[in-house]
Amino acid sequence: MTDKHEHSGRSSEHLLDKEIILKGLNLTVGQTVVDAGCGNGYMAREFSKKVGSTGQVYALDVHQPSIDQLSRDLTASNIIARCADMSQKTEIEDNSVDVIYLSMVFHGFSPEQQKGFLAEARRILKPDGIMAIVEIDKKPAPFGPHADIKFSPEELCQAVNMNSHKCTIINQYIYMQTFINNKSTI
Ligand SMILES: C[S@@+](CC[C@H](N)C(=O)[O-])C[C@H]1O[C@@H](n2cnc3c(N)ncnc32)[C@H](O)[C@@H]1O
Repeated sequence: MTDKHEHSGRSSEHLLDKEIILKGLNLTVGQTVVDAGCGNGYMAREFSKKVGSTGQVYALDVHQPSIDQLSRDLTASNIIARCADMSQKTEIEDNSVDVIYLSMVFHGFSPEQQKGFLAEARRILKPDGIMAIVEIDKKPAPFGPHADIKFSPEELCQAVNMNSHKCTIINQYIYMQTFINNKSTI
């Protein structure tokens, strides 16, 4: 991986409130969700409960040991765990995903990876599907990357070529910005 900010195998579970995220995403039974850069898959497990047996969750990460561990621990049959680079084309079919969730990953992407990820997100999302990006705001925080590579919500909206939907404040440092895939309007 050619990341400028190495974070393979890390988890932000201790920093995030899962209930606020789940409320912001408002998932429904039968949906297909991608946890992109899933780490240990703690949110994929939450998504799996929300979408139920008729839904599908892809837990994807480029870090093979995380996927191996997740695969060993999995009990939910509606989660597919795979080693995959989200800045490249994945195995997921065109126009098949309701929600892509990317938490604490975007700031680590190079410009080429950002471009590749956004192209892949637009390919796999259904028209009007949702992409949710969790990031650390630019203000000083006792954790996280250097300010230079952090995104404010406004900067993130500039960087993402989809219509911004809503910004959910998770805590004083972290937010979740959602976007709607506007494939149907281009
Ligand atoms: C800081 S961790 C966040 C993990 C999890 N999403 C969370 O919020 O706790 C970043 C994760 O993104 C993964 N990652 C980085 N670049 C990736 C890429 N191009 N494709 C897929 N996963 C990637 C890393 O391996 C790591 O597991």
